[in-house]
Amino acid sequence: MKRSKRIETLDNRPVNLDGYIDEWPEMGFVAMRSPYDPAGSVKVQDGRIVELDGKKREDFDFIDQFIADYAIDIGRTEQSMAVPALDIARMIVDIHVPRKEILELISGITPARMAEVLNHLNVVEMMMGMQKMRARRMPGNQAHITNLKDDPVQIAADAAEGALRGFAEEETTMGVARYAPLSAMALLIGSQIGRPGVLTQCSAEEATELELGIRGLTTYAETLSVYGTEKVFIDGDDTPYSKAFLNSAYASRGLKVRFTSGSGSEVLMGSSEKKSMLYLECRCLYVTKGAGSQGIQNGSVSCIGVPGSVPGGIREVLGENLVAALLGLECASSNDQSFSNSDMRRTARTMLQFLPGTDFIFSGYAAEPNYDNMFAGSNFDAEDFDDYNVLQRDMQVDGGLKPVTEAEVIRVRSKAAKAVQAVFGHLGLSPVTDEQVEAATYAHGSKDTPGRDVTADLMAAEEVLKRGITGVDVVKALAQTGFTDVAESVLSMLKQRVVGDYMQTAAILDREFSVLSGVNTPNDYMGPGTGYRVEGERWEEIKRIPHRIDPLDM
Ligand code: 5AD
Ligand code: CA
Repeated sequence: MKRSKRIETLDNRPVNLDGYIDEWPEMGFVAMRSPYDPAGSVKVQDGRIVELDGKKREDFDFIDQFIADYAIDIGRTEQSMAVPALDIARMIVDIHVPRKEILELISGITPARMAEVLNHLNVVEMMMGMQKMRARRMPGNQAHITNLKDDPVQIAADAAEGALRGFAEEETTMGVARYAPLSAMALLIGSQIGRPGVLTQCSAEEATELELGIRGLTTYAETLSVYGTEKVFIDGDDTPYSKAFLNSAYASRGLKVRFTSGSGSEVLMGSSEKKSMLYLECRCLYVTKGAGSQGIQNGSVSCIGVPGSVPGGIREVLGENLVAALLGLECASSNDQSFSNSDMRRTARTMLQFLPGTDFIFSGYAAEPNYDNMFAGSNFDAEDFDDYNVLQRDMQVDGGLKPVTEAEVIRVRSKAAKAVQAVFGHLGLSPVTDEQVEAATYAHGSKDTPGRDVTADLMAAEEVLKRGITGVDVVKALAQTGFTDVAESVLSMLKQRVVGDYMQTAAILDREFSVLSGVNTPNDYMGPGTGYRVEGERWEEIKRIPHRIDPLDM
């Protein structure tokens, strides 16, 4: 066939490099409603749920049982289930119905009913719902801080810059897992230099991650994964009960914890039981709530290619974020793994969380160039900072970041690199040269740094574990090498572990280490003139993008 130049041009657009598939419920490729999804139902007998979403108790799998026993308010479930799904959907959008009333009503509905409610909402209505139902009054943002070389000096510098730019949480992970103790330490130090009070996390194998947390080298944990079918859970050697136990292990040591879930994982692991992605994700979120976790990182997360490939899939992703908020959970709303070759598409996808605001709009914005992102690439990265700042300014929306000056960036990066040099030196770990400090200060990414002696670093990482080095040792090392202010900040982060207030739903810390959470600063949006508004000093800050004309200069 003779080709049309028009169609050929379109065929070559980035959006056509993405993968698309028709709905195929038998294999789980269906976003919000599968013909095999159950209808919502509940029966209570002697204070126990004996039927859930069309299934009798004797037929429950362990997810059903966990949900029936721990995630639904048995006292009010029959009353909540008597309210039609469409009525609940309308209340979610109605500005006259307060968040609290919806939380109470929702606490009695089942996962299948929840999916029915969401099916009544279009994306704009979901955004209206999120604007009202988000837990914390003010939205926030989370960064990925990683690099290809696992270079702790760059981690510290990037963490400092990220914190300066406004991220309230920063997480790292490694190419080489054994680097974890050095990565965690560098992230802890760097973050506090950029902005005191930033929470940090090191995503590693479960036992290591818990150990780093207990030692005070991290302040939160996030990758406690849950899944929507029993088979997938078991494939990961887990159950809702084991995850609840791990959650308590962290919480008992004063660490903030959230779970991770998201549509598409069951499809990828070949066990979706023909159910829609939304229904399976509802089950994950009920498990999260039942396990007592304060929050969730969800919105497909690392599986975004799957919902991204089916009709209505990106609507479903916002839908699952909203379900988290409806269950009263903190929601770190994904936007992390890159999913599209199209700049238009990746931006449009992010607007669904950016415009209403979520507790963390990104559950991992790459605060490094994409090639350095060890979480497999993020939807936005360090090269998009100015685009993002302009979007905030264009729409007068708080996306959690702010414009910065080059001088500030260089100052905090340099200080962070020097602090890591001093701490590693003081603790007798692997040396950091002046050349490495200089390179990390001015680098865009790991292509601009000389790299590390990996053998020496891995020996040092092992030393940290063997010698039982803790957050307190980091504080001492900082204090004894002249970084008194940083020592104070790290010590304040350790004190939070004892106070525990930052374990409340959707908690972050401001630069004075005061908690802002869904408990003490709850979202009070009830339509125009209420709730969080971008104004005052914060609006001035958002306006100050680097490339603007100042009329006074004219
Ligand atoms: N479901 C469950 N866990 C997920 N993670 C990412 N996406 C999902 C998902 N859809 C978790 C995994 C991964 C980490 C980055 O986050 O544990 O290792
Ligand atoms: Ca994350």
